[in-house]
Amino acid sequence: MHARSSQPVPEGLVELVEAELLPQLVIRSPHPHDPVVVEQLPAPWRSLGSGNYAAVLHHPRHSELVVKVYAPGRPGLTREAEVYRRIGTHPAFSVCHHVGQGYLVLQRLQGTTLYDCVREGVPIPLQLVRDIDAAIAYAESRGLHGHDVHGRNVLLHRDRGRIVDISDFLNPEPCDAWRDLRRAYHLLYRPVIAPLRLRVPTPLLERLRRGYRLYRHLRSRA
Ligand SMILES: Nc1ncnc2c1ncn2[C@@H]1O[C@H](COP(=O)(O)OP(=O)(O)OP(=O)(O)O)[C@@H](O)[C@H]1O
Ligand SMILES: [Mg+2]
Repeated sequence: MHARSSQPVPEGLVELVEAELLPQLVIRSPHPHDPVVVEQLPAPWRSLGSGNYAAVLHHPRHSELVVKVYAPGRPGLTREAEVYRRIGTHPAFSVCHHVGQGYLVLQRLQGTTLYDCVREGVPIPLQLVRDIDAAIAYAESRGLHGHDVHGRNVLLHRDRGRIVDISDFLNPEPCDAWRDLRRAYHLLYRPVIAPLRLRVPTPLLERLRRGYRLYRHLRSRA
């Protein structure tokens, strides 16, 4: 695949990725519905997070950028590159700098995922909900769809919201992920979790994540 981007490819990073990172990186996707696992990562690369398709890594010399490496056999890289091509520039989204073989180079977005906010007891302001609503409306104005906007794909940074993963934004099928998350924010988070400053433990969050996935699956078949 050719490098394709509206942004300049950062000097030296592509060589670092292809000569140092990829030959030594070992990642696998144990289950399509669970995050990929990074089993081996050469120094000084660091992992910033994993989704069900890819691991997101960064190099200290290029701290403004991340490398999103798709796990073997996991699809979607070409579609994600296309979403970035269409979405243009907006403060709630990252920018794609380079499309490589099995990986993308993206602008790094600082922030904490909503999943981690709830785990760590970081307060989530109402402004975040407004920012995500506005970001999805903007994406729709570009002919895209706010698909799969879930708790690991939304970041809180300095009281503002961003969508860190727009890989499913070409998918026109209805998706209730953000609507359901917004509802949970108003019904559960603001009245109960936030005032009591509760931290939701990881095992409970994982159970909720899997339960919600099952609920979505059953609802889509109903
Ligand atoms: N541009 C970025 N800057 C900083 N961190 C990022 C960036 N992109 C992704 N991450 C981190 O890496 C994690 C996994 O990335 P991402 O959600 O894009 O992977 P995915 O496999 O496409 O996810 P999904 O399972 O939602 O499809 C995110 O939850 C986030 O913590
Ligand atoms: Mg994701």
